[in-house]
Amino acid sequence: MGTWCIEGAGPLAGTVEIHGAKNAVLPILSASLLAEETTLLRCPALTDVSAAKEILQCLGCRVTQALDVLRVDASGEIACEALPEQPAREMRSSILFLGALLARCGRARIGFPGGCELGPRPIDLHLAGLRRLGAEIREEGGILECRVGGRLRGAPIALPFPSVGATENLMIAAATAEGETVITNAAREPEVRALADYLNACGAQIACEDDHIRICGVESLGAATVSIIPDRIEAVTYLCAAAATGGEIRLERVCPAHLAAVLPIFEEMGCRLKTEEAAIELTAPRRLSSVAAVKTMPYPGFPTDAQAPLMAALCCARGSTLFIETIFSARYRHVGELERMGAQIRTEGRMALVRGVERLHGAAVRCTDLRGGAALAVAALAAEGETVLSETRHLDRGYCDFAKQLGALGAKIRTGGPPPSA
Ligand code: EPZ
Repeated sequence: MGTWCIEGAGPLAGTVEIHGAKNAVLPILSASLLAEETTLLRCPALTDVSAAKEILQCLGCRVTQALDVLRVDASGEIACEALPEQPAREMRSSILFLGALLARCGRARIGFPGGCELGPRPIDLHLAGLRRLGAEIREEGGILECRVGGRLRGAPIALPFPSVGATENLMIAAATAEGETVITNAAREPEVRALADYLNACGAQIACEDDHIRICGVESLGAATVSIIPDRIEAVTYLCAAAATGGEIRLERVCPAHLAAVLPIFEEMGCRLKTEEAAIELTAPRRLSSVAAVKTMPYPGFPTDAQAPLMAALCCARGSTLFIETIFSARYRHVGELERMGAQIRTEGRMALVRGVERLHGAAVRCTDLRGGAALAVAALAAEGETVLSETRHLDRGYCDFAKQLGALGAKIRTGGPPPSA
């Protein structure tokens, strides 16, 4: 399950090299089912990536990895039956295999996806879009039985909400469908663009315009080698850790443009920022200033995945900050754990009012989900005394060598610590 003992140990300082983005590599791994051979450079070593690799292997692909280079050979026979139960349940992005299986095999049997408990995680937009492309989908007792007679057929699809996963699933399914598909009100996240770049490198014909994506179906996809874009949420998490501890940090192999909605907030908090083409430097004040309001929005707005770590950094700011979470209906599960550390936070539906306190104190707390866990690690680094953080397996889903990297910045973290006291 994983337990860390974190001693609040003053300002962090140093340099961090950002890894490839989890939310870019996962849809690309699903899409690799349609390509002959895929080579991914800068592939992060994460448990969600391991789960996706296991799914590909169960489906008959040859998957090999050397350091951060991952190869998928999907040129052989694909076992189109049910996805393996366990990994599929473990993560949300297993649903992304549905579009690929329908495109490759014409049929699929898949359980409802697992993933973080961020409130209901419906997949109605995925299913409605796939039906528009000609799929017949029956839902029976948590299992989706899907099939398509012949090839998927391109169609106009209007998304009522710019769902990242639905956009990705439909893009993958439409890449080799017959005819043209136009997805309007499509998600614009960098990870969605990265998926289009990968598919085009394999021979697809996808054009990402402002809020719509045009896909002209091709017969088949070939081989491609792509480098995974940097993980913007990992980057923000380290900025929050440095900001919360009054430290200074340099991030390398990062894309500042992906954080255009985030960096001004750190400046409002009193941090000094310097950006280069592929680097960001942050110097924090001894005590942060609060921010009037932080509202999560679809890209290019403030990312919902950064809400929890930023909240942790603002728990000891001078003044109050109002968070408005517009993407997920239950993305405040970390609030109760932060309160155990002395944070003053009031939640009301999708709003959370954080009133800055002088200092947090260590406590026994548990990771509620991936980004909630990251928030608790950030809070523990700035707290007085020791924090025992349990359920750290959630962190392994989205952060490579997180404890080791924080240690290199001066944090005092013992992993595999004692079980939390009752
Ligand atoms: C992706 O999840 C990311 N995961 C999430 O990151 C991220 O928080 C989210 O996009 C928003 O940016 C991956 O890329 C693997 P959505 P996804 O479809 O695709 C509703 C992390 O921490 N919705 O854009 O599931 C849904 O309930 C994870 O790295 C429907 O109603 O996000 C939610 O309220 C967490 N019906 C909202 O849309 C649907 O069919 C956003 O969901 C699909 C979604």
